Amino acid sequence: MQDQILIGGKWLDGAGGDRISVTDPATGKEVATVAAGTPADATAAVDAAAIAQKQWAQTPPRERAEILRNCWSTLLAHSDELAEIIVREHGKPLADAKGEIAYAAEFFRWNSEEAVRIHGSIGTAPAGNNKIIVRHPPVGVVVMVTPWNFPAAMITRKVAPALAAGNAAVIKPAKETPLTALRIGELLHEAGVPAGVVNVVPTLTAGSWFEAATAHDATRMVSFTGSTEVGRVLLKRCADRVLKVAMELGGNAPFIVFNDADVDAAVEGAMTAKMRHSAETCTAANRFFAESEIADAFTAKLAKAMGAIKTGSGFDESVTCGPLINADAVLTVTALVDEAVNSGAQVAVGGSAIAGSGFFYEPTVLGNVAEGSAITTQEIFGPVAPIISFTDTDAMIDQANDTEMGLAAYVYSGDIGRGLNVCERLESGMVGLNRGAMSDPAAPFGGMKQSGLGREGASEGIYEFCETQYIAASW
Ligand code: SIN
Repeated sequence: MQDQILIGGKWLDGAGGDRISVTDPATGKEVATVAAGTPADATAAVDAAAIAQKQWAQTPPRERAEILRNCWSTLLAHSDELAEIIVREHGKPLADAKGEIAYAAEFFRWNSEEAVRIHGSIGTAPAGNNKIIVRHPPVGVVVMVTPWNFPAAMITRKVAPALAAGNAAVIKPAKETPLTALRIGELLHEAGVPAGVVNVVPTLTAGSWFEAATAHDATRMVSFTGSTEVGRVLLKRCADRVLKVAMELGGNAPFIVFNDADVDAAVEGAMTAKMRHSAETCTAANRFFAESEIADAFTAKLAKAMGAIKTGSGFDESVTCGPLINADAVLTVTALVDEAVNSGAQVAVGGSAIAGSGFFYEPTVLGNVAEGSAITTQEIFGPVAPIISFTDTDAMIDQANDTEMGLAAYVYSGDIGRGLNVCERLESGMVGLNRGAMSDPAAPFGGMKQSGLGREGASEGIYEFCETQYIAASW
């Protein structure tokens, strides 16, 4: 297991000698310690990235593409090992962890295909006296701050397009899940990524680490996935140096079920939208709006499906929901459910934290949830489905849009025209129509409003890591 930081292709102990304690959330016990990077290490990582990036940007796109494709096959070849690391430090079920590695690796395959298709343009100026040439060089050094909920995929979703475009990366993985990040750093080198192009520096001092990394003259961009609250703080810091930013922030996804929906399909989609990766995704369905005639059937069937979930260690193959990430997460979910119940919500199933070791909460369905309860306005990040019944579609859409978050939304209807019409009225960057899952490296992932800036994946994703240069030319 790799437990040192990666700077300029070398494995090092952090300059301060501190170690990060990594905990298995299924037991609450330490499973490893990892060297903790300091602000000086962040500076050293940007130094190394700045040197390596110059050469990497000169590497022909086809060569970069082939290295990225090697990264894809190398990660897949180590899928079992990486998935076990994820389960150990994150807790999600092994099958989900393997799914995450396939998803994570796919960003390399997709971007290996995009690396040779970064197109500019050439045209004649309207006055006819010069040409307008537009090209897209890489940004340079990109600082990446990644979350714990997808310890592999949230790294590769940034690194793959950044490298494809000719950038170098300095990654600060979440302190909860550094082991996956370090092993990925190691495997990318084995796959042919040159020393210094990818640097991985976990830390215990996120604020001063980030200050140092972004104060460095060579840093030109920050790409962050995490909460809107932290995103705002990072944006302010980036403003001081006018850094380019890409932000994937919080969500509060509505999941809307109309009377004409196939209720079994809606429940199946709801289970995916809510419970994927132990209910700890930014795209997780956070509020369920069920039209009045279908609300009882939907609630009963969803409660049955949620009640059948087995929680426990991700290494147990019969488990489909792992622990929450830490004790604070259990307290947050408990407070949200308790407040909703005190305001009149009915517990259809679950409703409590699970006593014993580890950080578990029962899969829970709440019916009759009052509009405006904290559970409908805050991101739950836990296995709880609050259901609100509605009769007036316009009022429901206003309610669904009554949030500063606009990442994901889901619509179930048997009438595709009606469904599409509602999709268009939702203020969300991504909408699943009769689908509970939509994440795909080939699609643009990102949010509207305070859910983020920019898009990851698809053909747009690579341009986030590019500048635009225009050359006015006469010949
Ligand atoms: C996230 O939770 O931030 C990412 C979810 C996904 O990629 O599906």
